[in-house]
Amino acid sequence: MVIISTDIHKCVTESVARCEHDRLFVLTDETTDKLCRPLIEGVECLQDAIYITIGATDACKTLDTLAYVWTKLGECGATRHSLLINLGGGMVTDLGGFAASTFKRGIKYINIPTTLLSMVDAAVGGKTGINFNGLKNEIGVFNAAQDVILDTELLRTLDSRNICSGYAEMLKHGLISNTENWAELIRFDISGKIDYARLGQMVGTSVAIKERIVEEDPFEKGIRKALNLGHTAGHALESLMLKHGTPVLHGYAVAWGLICELYLSCTKVGFPTDKMRQTVRFVREHYGEMEFTCEEYETLYEFMTHDKKNTAGTINFTLLGEIGDIRINQIATKEEIFDMFDFLREG
Ligand code: GLY
Repeated sequence: MVIISTDIHKCVTESVARCEHDRLFVLTDETTDKLCRPLIEGVECLQDAIYITIGATDACKTLDTLAYVWTKLGECGATRHSLLINLGGGMVTDLGGFAASTFKRGIKYINIPTTLLSMVDAAVGGKTGINFNGLKNEIGVFNAAQDVILDTELLRTLDSRNICSGYAEMLKHGLISNTENWAELIRFDISGKIDYARLGQMVGTSVAIKERIVEEDPFEKGIRKALNLGHTAGHALESLMLKHGTPVLHGYAVAWGLICELYLSCTKVGFPTDKMRQTVRFVREHYGEMEFTCEEYETLYEFMTHDKKNTAGTINFTLLGEIGDIRINQIATKEEIFDMFDFLREG
């Protein structure tokens, strides 16, 4: 259950009470341990909780870190009836969710996402995992949290880059849902003085879109692929930036991926050009340009061939015929893909 919290202490207390358990563990990273742990520490049911803290960046989303969490759970007496609370961004909720799903064949877990990206995407929907062999989220399982507690007050603590990063996933949810939602998203001011109360409500709408899709198709056999809009190109762009030694926040790559895939949607399945142009203008204004040359198209293409979403020998896209008109399992030729990268670079 996704709970939009106005009182984090009350929500945590009720949620923990619903999950019968013997011992209680809280997973934080070095940042959330300092900044977010104080928000929940006073909660009475957490008095005896055992805290496990891991490194804070995506570079820590590894098998070693996972083994560290399993070891700590074991050493501190976790049983199959223990409960894990993941307090952090997508790295913590993904890795913690996977640790919980695999420890003694699975213990229950609750997510308390602390970034916009994890609130609207990573912490919701049961995808868990770690990076492996240089590939993002290569190893993992589908297993939903018992509860996801969203404290939208935390949005006020985020810097503008983290707001933009999460907002790209909200924009994706707008594009796959309806014109009204999309129009509100591209009108909202994310770079100036943010209306946090309104943003909090928009987060609720955004999460509801994701929940509806996940409920229909929890294991991504069909319609859940809608949530991959912008991600086939986006993951390749993210990997290229990492290779350059200039990593970007996931949502920036998704925003540029949306430019790519809306362009492909226009050329292949008739997405309206004016709506594509308006979205592209919004992305270029708030996320800037991605710097790369045509010499790097082959590398990007190579990254795309490793995407989890592919089926033998083809690169799989989710495209749109209109806002909300989702076309899954679309393929594109290498020439079309290179043309798409030209559009991203040159407009
Ligand atoms: N992040 C896309 C999904 O949860 O399916």
